[in-house]
Amino acid sequence: MAIREVREIGDDILTKQCKEVTKMTMRTQILIEDMLDTMYEKFGVGLAAPQVGVLKKIVVIDVGDGPVVLINPEVVETSGEQTGEEGCLSVPGKYGIVTRPNHVKVRFLNEEMEETELEGEGLLARAFCHEIDHLSGKLYVELAEDGIHDVEYEDAGEEYAGDDGEE
Ligand code: NI
Repeated sequence: MAIREVREIGDDILTKQCKEVTKMTMRTQILIEDMLDTMYEKFGVGLAAPQVGVLKKIVVIDVGDGPVVLINPEVVETSGEQTGEEGCLSVPGKYGIVTRPNHVKVRFLNEEMEETELEGEGLLARAFCHEIDHLSGKLYVELAEDGIHDVEYEDAGEEYAGDDGEE
């Protein structure tokens, strides 16, 4: 298990275009494992490779139904609309109100590099859009309708905004 440093807003790498993954290598497998470890450690629902400093089109998501790994993902269909709070591990302690499609279909390669499609609604649809945006250097803050706000924590000492986890 390895936790990688999460890059934060202001870091240039978060604004860059990511490259397609053309084959699965040991290095890429380790990256994916580390991305999952890092996402769970930080209590995120999704993480994109540029957030750990790697400009590859790889996303991991877990909205509570188990991990999903998406390689070279693209949104192929959207419908409906949802408006709600969105946050990002690269913008710690903040949230914004963002409108996204409520239903999203994505096409991607799985870890066996097989073409796969998946449909999501609600939070999963939001996570697809948010994470795929990271791969073209976009952060949700550009879409936030009413600016960026501080998260008010109910419990003091919440780890969420902390800086722990480096090894
Ligand atoms: Ni994010």
